[in-house]
Amino acid sequence: MPAYPYHVFVCANRRPPGHPKGSCAERGCNDLLMALTEAVDTNELWEAVKVNSTNCLGPCDNGPSIVVYPEGIWYGGVKPADVPELVASHFLTGVPVERLRLQTR
Ligand code: FES
Repeated sequence: MPAYPYHVFVCANRRPPGHPKGSCAERGCNDLLMALTEAVDTNELWEAVKVNSTNCLGPCDNGPSIVVYPEGIWYGGVKPADVPELVASHFLTGVPVERLRLQTR
C-alpha cells in the first residue's frame, strides 16, 4: 500500500435543501473534486497526492472544506480555480496557500 506524501480529504457532504448548515455539496464540492482529480492526472502526481471525498469535516460555513495530511492543513471556500495554485504551491513545493487556510486551534 503506497504512503502518499499528501492525502487530501474533500468534504462531499450533502444536506437537504434549506438545511440551516448548508453543505459543501451546495457550495460546489463536486466541481472541486473533479478539478483536484484532473490536476493530479495532468501533473502526474499519482504517487504524490491522493484525493478522497469524505463526509462532513466540520467547518460547514466555510465550504467547500478540505484538509491535507500529514500536516493537517485546513482550507475553506476552495474553488476549482484555486486548484492550480494549490498544486503549484502546496503539492509541488510544500508551501501552503495562506489565503485559503482555515484557522485551527
Ligand atoms: S458539510 Fe462540508 S464541512 Fe460540513
